[in-house]
Amino acid sequence: MKERIKEFFARKGNYYQNNEVNENKEEKNQNPSEEIKRYAIEKFKTRRSIRKYSQKEVPWKTIHDIIENALNAPAAGNIQNYKVIVVTEKKKRHEIGKLSFHQYWLSEAPTLLVVVRDNYDLKNMYPNEGETYAIQNSAAFIQNLLLLAHFNELGACWVEAYDNEVVKEYLGIPIEKTVDAIIPIGYPLENPKISKDPMTSKVFFEKYGNKNRENHH
Ligand SMILES: Cc1cc2nc3c(=O)[nH]c(=O)nc-3n(C[C@H](O)[C@H](O)[C@H](O)COP(=O)(O)O)c2cc1C
Repeated sequence: MKERIKEFFARKGNYYQNNEVNENKEEKNQNPSEEIKRYAIEKFKTRRSIRKYSQKEVPWKTIHDIIENALNAPAAGNIQNYKVIVVTEKKKRHEIGKLSFHQYWLSEAPTLLVVVRDNYDLKNMYPNEGETYAIQNSAAFIQNLLLLAHFNELGACWVEAYDNEVVKEYLGIPIEKTVDAIIPIGYPLENPKISKDPMTSKVFFEKYGNKNRENHH
């Protein structure tokens, strides 16, 4: 991990140069988690939806690790009400692109993860809110998948525009379930920059609408 982080910052160009001075100092390694935190934050900041992929295959081990770690997502009632279908066959990827309102760019990615949600257990446990919880659980899992792909230097995109019933039929998914996302994963061939809303437009203090932090500790 440390090697990987070093590589990352080396590629970024200046972190290690600017911090070489620390190499001989006592505080070196005093707080190694600081470095890991910086790396993680950088990764959170730079995740973007990727829509251009190299056709180079992604090893199963990498996909396996992404899915396994994504399963640490929070889940209402700790009911992990989702499955994921790993699709690599070229013909299938093409067909799924077609069923996604002709978003053929996603068929170029060597792996597609199809996230399938099941509401049954959550609805049983929480009759009123079960379906909402089921969707939220699935969304948390999907976000983990996207971030983990990026942590592995891979690109991914949350694709939701497809014909759910037809995709279900095509992949043999039982009728009562729902496809929550199709996620192409592959080596990125683009590095899109987009802007996000400033934090000041999103945060209130103590009550909705209050932007004044004066009495806030
Ligand atoms: C629920 C959901 C559905 C989405 N569906 C699509 C889609 O069908 N096609 C697509 O190209 N991007 C899709 N996206 C990706 C968004 O366009 C993208 O997240 C947004 O433009 C912000 O860009 P970023 O992910 O790089 O921050 C979807 C994202 C979400 C969360």
